[in-house]
Amino acid sequence: MCGIIGIVGTRPVQERLIDSLKRLEYRGYDSAGVAGVVDGHVERRRAKGKIRALEEVLAGEPLKASVGIGHTRWATHGEPSTRNAHPHASGRVTLVHNGIIENYAELREALKKKGRSFESETDSEVIAQLLDEELKTKPPLEALKATLDQLTGAYAIAVLIDGCDELIMGARRGSPLVVGYGDGEMFLGSDALAVGPFTNRIAYLEEGDYVAIDHKQAQIFDEAGNPVERPVRTVAASAALVEKGNYRHFMEKEIHDQPDACQHTLSAYIDPTTGRVHAPGRLDFAQYDRVQIVACGTASYAGQIARYFFERLAGLPCEVEVASEFRYRQPAVTKGTLAVAVSQSGETADTLAALRWCKAQGLTTAAVVNVHESTMAREADLLWPTHAGPEIGVASTKAFTSQVAALTALAVAAAAARGRIDTDEEARFTRLLLESPRLIAEATQVEEEIRALAPELARARDVLYLGRGAMYPLALEGALKLKEISYIHAEGYAAGELKHGPIALIDEETPIIVIAPTDALFDKTISNMSEVAARGGKVILITDEAGARNAPDGARVIVGPTCDPLLAPLVYAPPIQLMAYYVAVQKGADVDQPRNLAKSVTVE
Ligand code: F6R
Repeated sequence: MCGIIGIVGTRPVQERLIDSLKRLEYRGYDSAGVAGVVDGHVERRRAKGKIRALEEVLAGEPLKASVGIGHTRWATHGEPSTRNAHPHASGRVTLVHNGIIENYAELREALKKKGRSFESETDSEVIAQLLDEELKTKPPLEALKATLDQLTGAYAIAVLIDGCDELIMGARRGSPLVVGYGDGEMFLGSDALAVGPFTNRIAYLEEGDYVAIDHKQAQIFDEAGNPVERPVRTVAASAALVEKGNYRHFMEKEIHDQPDACQHTLSAYIDPTTGRVHAPGRLDFAQYDRVQIVACGTASYAGQIARYFFERLAGLPCEVEVASEFRYRQPAVTKGTLAVAVSQSGETADTLAALRWCKAQGLTTAAVVNVHESTMAREADLLWPTHAGPEIGVASTKAFTSQVAALTALAVAAAAARGRIDTDEEARFTRLLLESPRLIAEATQVEEEIRALAPELARARDVLYLGRGAMYPLALEGALKLKEISYIHAEGYAAGELKHGPIALIDEETPIIVIAPTDALFDKTISNMSEVAARGGKVILITDEAGARNAPDGARVIVGPTCDPLLAPLVYAPPIQLMAYYVAVQKGADVDQPRNLAKSVTVE
């Protein structure tokens, strides 16, 4: 959603605030701002748009502060503008906020009645105004607690108070906030990446916590106002992990990171010497009679792919639902259901709410997450990690394939635990899975061919993606990738559904991307393709060598590696990701930061 940084430093902080905001820009980039203590008073600088716009403002008017806060915004209440940009100021208070204050309208009215006027349309300014009101009668920490007690909704905040030169206060509920411990300096940030360049010693605040930091220490309080200790951990969010290297965009780098990401992920699940899969946390799949996967967007497509394997290999009924629907539907879950949340960030508001709902029903919960210190990772009964490393491109790539790799390994574990496969078959499956990093690398070799197709695809108004079986969710993912970064309308369909309506869309202008490596359903997909070709559709078939030999006349064919159907969703992900990538580059779109999107959607 939005990104927050706070530094109580011993030297100027402007450059470090900007460096950190650039690392946080993946969370939102509608506007950005910083504030700091200059000669005993808080000053702020803000700009609409990306961090570079703020840098231009700072070039003209530097912020000469060694204590400061910063924010990069994904707009919820109020259009993207300088007026609505954080930090928000009111009297003695200057504040940055990530989240949504649900009762802001009511609080705003009450504050207006007290004679206060508002500068912005945001919910966040209400917090600043309330706190300033409380400061009239209370010292800072008491005033903060009294303010937080009046808020309904989600927040992570960092606050400067005029007259308290070496203090930053913070608080979290529903949105993450970490405390960084440096050498004579202290930090607050939305995540480990925010403070990564300055320290790797981090404490994660818990729900309802609030905190005061100065040069040397953090005083943390729980929701009830009791002083608490939160463990300080050493994390591995090294600065190097978030560099683009020689790539033009993070997305391009992350597509090429996938062999490593999947290998690291699989090694958390597979013991190569025994050929056995271990579900971290030693979960016994035999105790469950159903799997319910909840997730959003790309992560939900990873779940849909896994469904094929949980059911086919393990005979374990598996349902997958987007979390925003699941959480409000009052689903009829049964006691033997294992609830699995899938999320790169581990902070997506709907997925987190669905996970909490499952927990409240008494279900065992597991979280397949990439950010291992995230709220989902900490709240689920079991953490099933992916090891993709930080994913910065807003469009998910390596996190997706890592989720598919982890879930496929878990489906094999379930099959073994439920007696559906013996140890020899388990070892065969794990050997196959361990081949996937090499095959994923081989699949990226279609890059040049795909780049050559991009100019033509970039001219399309609509693009259709078709697949069957586990290639159907991959078709949905291909369409989502194209939509989100190139702004071309795209839809994914189950190939067999085409003639029940969507075939009416086919004309010479609409490219049809068919993802069909050879499998038991290949002939049926070929028939569907022929139906399209017969109506003048432009077919681009992504398949393997055997599939290429059976391609219908007139189809453009991209040949990927030959692999077992178990690996096909992993191996055929890079070609569709590269397709979206090169079309977006061709269109001159902002690949890593597409319009209207944010990496981590921590509001509903
Ligand atoms: C698309 C994309 C989103 C996310 C979704 C869930 O490329 O990245 O659809 O997959 O917002 O996010 P996480 O996985 O962080 O829960």
